[in-house]
Amino acid sequence: MNNSSISVTTKFAIGDDLLVNRIGYGAMRLTGQPGNFGPYANWEEGEQLLRRAVELGVNFIDTAEAYGPGFNEEIIASALHPYPEDLVIATKGGINKPTPDNIQADGRPESLRRSVEASLKRLKLEQIDLYQLHRPDRKVPFAESIGALAKLKQEGKIRHIGISNVTLEQIEEAISIVEIASVQNRFSFSEHTNQDILDYCTQNKIAFIPYGSLGAHPLKRGAPLATSEGILADIAVQKGVKPNQIALAWLLHYAPNIILIPGTTTISHLEENMAAASIVLTSEELTALNQF
Ligand SMILES: NC(=O)c1ccc[n+]([C@@H]2O[C@H](COP(=O)([O-])OP(=O)(O)OC[C@H]3O[C@@H](n4cnc5c(N)ncnc54)[C@H](OP(=O)(O)O)[C@@H]3O)[C@@H](O)[C@H]2O)c1
Repeated sequence: MNNSSISVTTKFAIGDDLLVNRIGYGAMRLTGQPGNFGPYANWEEGEQLLRRAVELGVNFIDTAEAYGPGFNEEIIASALHPYPEDLVIATKGGINKPTPDNIQADGRPESLRRSVEASLKRLKLEQIDLYQLHRPDRKVPFAESIGALAKLKQEGKIRHIGISNVTLEQIEEAISIVEIASVQNRFSFSEHTNQDILDYCTQNKIAFIPYGSLGAHPLKRGAPLATSEGILADIAVQKGVKPNQIALAWLLHYAPNIILIPGTTTISHLEENMAAASIVLTSEELTALNQF
């Protein structure tokens, strides 16, 4: 069998003009717990972690109004503003979260406008590089939510529009209204439920930003793929790295439009996750991983 190394590109241009490194950082966990609610308890440590992420080459950070709510965007601004020129902060709106366990979709145009304006203020930005609809609101026609974001883009408050937790039909509907630069759905080594959506994004050069790339449940601590037995662990041992790093490296090899946003609250995990960018997998290893 051919066992050549497969090299992967390390960057992807979101919306054709925001060139980012393909391992970014998902900031959601820098919030109060439980429920990703309230300010992060170790605020200064959180700021340090964000600065370290940028030092390590992160230039894509994913957040949302719903994380905190508001506090997650605030810690990013307090750690990193004035921002490095190449830093892309992607935020999301369209969810109201009055209490830790009460999450309500709100895709009304007037709510999205209010959310964009509040995010601009918290993030201290004039324009949001990538604004994602956090989740479709069943009470509001999808086209109305997307239309509202298209208007905000026209006004210059948003540079690019992304969508999250969507179906293929919703992606096609959104694209018929306005250019869609990214899709953020769950996907990981152990969870391929959104394979059709990833394929569609790859074919159409849309950034695919999988969440839960280490297999985590959004409201629970721990990365199931970091401790897994089996093929991830076997290849990790051979290469002298950790299974979670193989899970991330596999995603980078899987499709060129995947941008990773692993979440962590510890600098050592952050460093480990970033190091996955330089892991080269061979065709034999990829075949074994793809058969899983
Ligand atoms: N669009 C949506 O609806 C949606 C939903 C959920 C999440 N997201 C986005 O996706 C991002 C990532 O999601 P996520 O944080 O839920 O899942 P994840 O990236 O799969 O995993 C994060 C969990 O893994 C642990 N971890 C991270 N690196 C590790 C390592 N090297 N070794 C061992 N454990 C490690 C973290 O704990 P430690 O803190 O101990 O490292 C944390 O508990 C979020 O920050 C958010 O931006 C989006």
